[in-house]
Amino acid sequence: MARPHIEPYVELNDDYQPFTLRDFPQGAHYKVLSLDEDTGACSLKMRFDAGYSRPPGMSYSDAELFVLEGRVQVGEHTYGRGQYFFIPAGISMGAMHSADGFEALVFYNDGPPSHVESDQHHELALHEAFVSTNAYLDAPWLGTARRNPGVASGFAVKSLRMNPASKANTFLYAAIPEFMQDNISYHDCAEEAYHIHGDCSMMQFGELPTGGYFWRPAYINHGCFWSKHGCIALARIDGELYNYFHYNPWTTPDENARRAASMLYKEKPNLVEWTTRGGHNH
Ligand SMILES: [Fe+2]
Repeated sequence: MARPHIEPYVELNDDYQPFTLRDFPQGAHYKVLSLDEDTGACSLKMRFDAGYSRPPGMSYSDAELFVLEGRVQVGEHTYGRGQYFFIPAGISMGAMHSADGFEALVFYNDGPPSHVESDQHHELALHEAFVSTNAYLDAPWLGTARRNPGVASGFAVKSLRMNPASKANTFLYAAIPEFMQDNISYHDCAEEAYHIHGDCSMMQFGELPTGGYFWRPAYINHGCFWSKHGCIALARIDGELYNYFHYNPWTTPDENARRAASMLYKEKPNLVEWTTRGGHNH
């Protein structure tokens, strides 16, 4: 997922564009939050007009959809705010219809948006990876985030989907009003988030308000943090997240990557030797 560092981007200031890609019906609109120019993978904010209909079909890419506002019928069921789908490539989604319209975050993870009309799943589709859940109603909040070391108290996460191999994860995070964390973080994975509501400020990038978005590649310093009013956000990471904490705002991503490798060396010396040795063929 090679995308440039985007932080912060506040989409509420920009207009929607008509979503006129081939094979998709009329009546949808989009804003690009981030785009991988090599693969066409993208994160979009989309608006679907009242009366929007899409026939059943599958995508060539894994896709994710999170309903921000409004309601949408998919097949026999109607879904509202907080509905989250992870739709593996080749899984046919039922016919989609929205009487009054809806807004959603839509992600295509492996390639550009695609829709192949079909009421059958592709024979190679990974059925067991499909997720349908209401993020606000159906999942528990965890009071501390991630592997140790955890973040400061007052910050919670709710996992919606995890890839068991890569540990790529889609989750909600929330901070209470006046949440504060005084150190600086970076990770081995890229991080992406959209602020559904609220604010969070970082020393490097200023305030991320409602409608704020970032795509942050690995090893970029972020923090300290302060949320005046609290916030709730949808976030994604493309690998296992480990919180490397420190207090030096001047380190570069290369220096952070070397520090991360040295910490891995202390924890798993044989693994580092393997990762740095040339000539292996597996
Ligand atoms: Fe982070």
